[in-house]
Amino acid sequence: MTFQLTEQSTESKTELYGNLALQLRSLFVDERDFIANAANLSSLLYHSLPDLNWAGLYLYKPDELVLGPFQGMPACVRIALGKGVCGTAAQHRQTIIVPNVHDFPGHIACDSASNSEIVVPIINEERLIGVLDLDSPSFGRFDDDDARGLNELVRIFVALCDLDV
Ligand code: SME
Repeated sequence: MTFQLTEQSTESKTELYGNLALQLRSLFVDERDFIANAANLSSLLYHSLPDLNWAGLYLYKPDELVLGPFQGMPACVRIALGKGVCGTAAQHRQTIIVPNVHDFPGHIACDSASNSEIVVPIINEERLIGVLDLDSPSFGRFDDDDARGLNELVRIFVALCDLDV
């Protein structure tokens, strides 16, 4: 199988995320394995979204988050609920946009290149599955359009995977 990434440089963010949703659906055709699809989600985001230095998942294993499939530098493996940006997003089950990670109390620095971050909780029928985490070397890289687009991609991911992890 050869997967062609769509050229996205001239698109608006709405178009960009719309295209990513189509690409994600095509990647998941005939495949519901959670880890395989999480790995492809990370790769698609890392290689398609501009200005990222890390993209991946942390999976909820009571009572902490454990590193899952990702692209980027090696990262911390375990994050307690309520700790860092990931643990806070998981605990409150809310998307968190951090324009400057150095201003976020308790931010966990895995890659010194990271300056901004967005974390989207992955939830299925009230059950916390984990979080999707993206880091950027630029300050203020993520906005509400990214939050909307990434939440839609997470919704597709949850709908098209077996969640018995
Ligand atoms: N910065 C995150 C930790 C994970 S890394 O960014 C990959 C946090 O504060 O939870």
